[in-house]
Amino acid sequence: MIQITKVNLGERSYEILVGENLLDNAAEYICPHLKRSKTVIITDENVATHQLSRLENNFSANNIGFTTIVLSAGEATKSFSMLEELLNLLLEQRLERSDTIIALGGGVIGDLVGFAASVYLRGINFIQIPTTLLAQVDSSVGGKTGINSNYGKNLIGAFHQPQLVLIDVTTLETLDPRHIISGYSEIVKYGLINDQAFFNWLLKNGKKLISEENHEQRAFRTQAIIKSCEAKAAVVADDEKEAGSRALLNLGHTFGHALEAENGYNDNLFHGEAVAMGMILAFKLSLKMGFCPAEDVAQIEHHFEDVGAQSISQFNFNVDRLLEHMKGDKKMSDGKLTFVIANGIGSAFLSKDVNMEDVKDVLEQALKG
Ligand code: GLY
Repeated sequence: MIQITKVNLGERSYEILVGENLLDNAAEYICPHLKRSKTVIITDENVATHQLSRLENNFSANNIGFTTIVLSAGEATKSFSMLEELLNLLLEQRLERSDTIIALGGGVIGDLVGFAASVYLRGINFIQIPTTLLAQVDSSVGGKTGINSNYGKNLIGAFHQPQLVLIDVTTLETLDPRHIISGYSEIVKYGLINDQAFFNWLLKNGKKLISEENHEQRAFRTQAIIKSCEAKAAVVADDEKEAGSRALLNLGHTFGHALEAENGYNDNLFHGEAVAMGMILAFKLSLKMGFCPAEDVAQIEHHFEDVGAQSISQFNFNVDRLLEHMKGDKKMSDGKLTFVIANGIGSAFLSKDVNMEDVKDVLEQALKG
């Protein structure tokens, strides 16, 4: 069964399809979006090993002409140099403005390919086939694309919506548990922002959907992906360019990006793991500011511990350097950082009125463990 969620953006609207084995039938869903039978699939080495042949075999069987570009895996691929290399490879293929490129991979591939699509010939179509849980529930939906710079993560980019998001939940079967937990934190985020009932459902089923040992558990995972995509689609339709409410999706990200930057974007701390830590810090800050009950903070912290997420106390971060990273965040306006804080689980809001001494205290306490 395929579940369809629409992202309503006028003439830039598109569908998110979620189901099992969609990769092996991709031509059926992708063909209606191709103006001619020529496309380029862009992926990374890991996804090439585990998933690429499924898509290539299906394209070949359906006479879709394609070439494939395989890039290195890892956050370092979201760089100026890789963007240049990718654009040159696309230029070599003589892709035309009406052509479509396909991002097959996790958030790094989706963000880089989306950005390349936004600037190639001033913008061509692209399709997202996210293969990690994090990309399926967050980064492949909503059109945020970009690369990192020496000044920070995702500071260079564009809003460029895909034509289609094709989510095959079976691609998650080859992911290691840490990648699943990393993506899971972005699922929890939707509950924490404005859906306490969903958070309560995750308290009950989260551990099961992470382990996915049987059919029932796989069904829980698919349900959580669909729910997350629906939540994201609603936010994006309401505020595509993040003029207001979309910024709530940055819950935990100001802290999380600082942790990632301080850790040198090293693979011992994945993006979603940093976001989980960042969301706990954001709720601790909300408690310190007198908004959020202590029980809610304890419940969130306990849930992440329960599902096996890493704790910030396992890392030896320097608080002053973390604060410096936060000041470089792109959510800075009029010299002030916008934080997502909360009145409690399911009740997040934006605030520019945050005392950086409180932020410092929260970080110091958290790092003591
Ligand atoms: N990942 C947050 C957003 O797409 O707005």
